Amino acid sequence: MDKKLYSLFCLLYFALPSCGSNFDDSPQNRTSSTNRIIVSSDNIKKGKELFTKCVGCHGFNGEKHALGKSAIIQGQEKEGTIVQLTEYSAGFLNQYGMGGLMQGQVRNFSDSDIRDVASYIESLLAQ
Ligand code: HEC
Repeated sequence: MDKKLYSLFCLLYFALPSCGSNFDDSPQNRTSSTNRIIVSSDNIKKGKELFTKCVGCHGFNGEKHALGKSAIIQGQEKEGTIVQLTEYSAGFLNQYGMGGLMQGQVRNFSDSDIRDVASYIESLLAQ
């Protein structure tokens, strides 16, 4: 995604008080080039279960352009995915005219479901 769009989503995200409250910005959860996010294996395990719902369109390893539209999400950085899924869930994100379809996918996801599936997506590596 281009940088400007991304910052816009971040702005939107933080502008919504109810969304911001569960954002975990603790230092141990930040990424840097040398220090990847450390997530418990439970998160990833739950995320993997949740991701079974996504593979039909995004591919088993997130390697496909979903319905020929989306970006390839394999290995995508976790915090960005959290912002995107939160926005889709709330009906605020529509990048290629199919935001409504993605809203249906994650509307019933809790904040922790979103974190777990985002962790799993970040863990996916090109095969
Ligand atoms: C029926 C097909 C379908 C399923 C199932 C699906 N997606 Fe998507 N996904 C799409 C499409 C189409 C888009 C582009 C939506 C838009 O216009 O913004 C998208 C976009 C995304 C994006 C943003 C990618 C980008 O281009 O920036 C993420 C992240 C994502 N999906 C994650 C998921 C997750 C996680 C699941 C499972 C819970 C899931 N999707 C299930 C079709 C699907």
